[in-house]
Amino acid sequence: PKTTISVIKADVGSFPGHSRAHPKLLETAAQMLRAERGKLLLDSFVTHCGDDLELVMTHSHGANSEAVHRLAWNVFAECTKVAKRFKLHGAGQDLLAEAFTGDIRELGPGVAEMEFEERESDPVLIFMADKTGPGAWNFYLYKIFADPFNTPGLVLDPALSGGFVFEVHDTVAKRMITFSCPEESYSLLAYIGSSSRYVIKYVFKRDGTIVASTSTQRLNLTAGKYVGKDDPVMIVRAESGFPSMGEVLEPFTVPVLVAGWMRGSHNGPLLPVGLCDANCTRFDGPPRVVCFGFQVANGALVGPADIFDDPAFDRVRARCNELADTIRAQGPFEPHRLSAGEMEYTTLPAVEKELENRWKLLKE
Ligand code: F6R
Ligand code: MG
Ligand code: MG
Repeated sequence: PKTTISVIKADVGSFPGHSRAHPKLLETAAQMLRAERGKLLLDSFVTHCGDDLELVMTHSHGANSEAVHRLAWNVFAECTKVAKRFKLHGAGQDLLAEAFTGDIRELGPGVAEMEFEERESDPVLIFMADKTGPGAWNFYLYKIFADPFNTPGLVLDPALSGGFVFEVHDTVAKRMITFSCPEESYSLLAYIGSSSRYVIKYVFKRDGTIVASTSTQRLNLTAGKYVGKDDPVMIVRAESGFPSMGEVLEPFTVPVLVAGWMRGSHNGPLLPVGLCDANCTRFDGPPRVVCFGFQVANGALVGPADIFDDPAFDRVRARCNELADTIRAQGPFEPHRLSAGEMEYTTLPAVEKELENRWKLLKE
């Protein structure tokens, strides 16, 4: 039998402001999912990154199961009620529809799923970020699966030397393309370097075995207006013919600028943190990523391990904080502020609209 992992997340209210999910929401979600164990679900784990409530579910219903998506929706709806009771900030903000209509992917929450035949041992890493968008994973996935300077296994292990296939989604034109690496790595980079538009959705082995899966929902494109950032999630399988756990984690030792942060309008460093530090504070950030590791055993989530809660990541955190100081000093100027094209999906157009009729045309 195959096992499916579904990671579904939404911001349905936080405190204070947009900084962290409330424990009562985590408790409500955990209880609702636990009640489904042995029924719809095999196992479950609930956590948060910043203001985002993260549901990790294992089951045998495959990706895009209507029943599993409905359960996630019901959990978010119930947590919204709790959030409203406490007058939490942004209560229900990511639920863009009144009711569940069959596919949660179109309704606001972010979804990463994968279905696979369990190996003798299946280590799985689940990454969850706040104050950034799905393009944030592009850099890391390229490094993990296509860069031998990061992943020696690509050179040293015959089980990896065949390379990997990347499925890239165009979030604007709603189309997809695949690139086989290493031979098409330049073409892959030509697109994924524009990470505000092109995002890696899946990584496969040559034989089609799934290795990585991300959420690609663009909240503001779905809503048609600014409702916060997408705050993506990602599932990566490791070891035995895939990159090792350390190869998957190694790209997170470099400070990387991602789009998001304050008002979803600024580039800033993505800070890898343990759960105890997964709360956004400075300038509503900096953008953060947590990682939970599990062994998946007949659908059971054996774990979790709080991966970035480790002094080995102290130096990248210090460097990220330095980079935050440097880029913050630019205040309202690009490239701290996002480019004009990306600012279209923030609250800036509302400001420009008010000033529109003050502009006078220049004579040629
Ligand atoms: C960014 C984020 C925050 C809010 C900011 C304003 O993703 O969540 O930076 O954009 O706190 O939020 P409101 O409009 O709720 O005051
Ligand atoms: Mg928020
Ligand atoms: Mg968030």
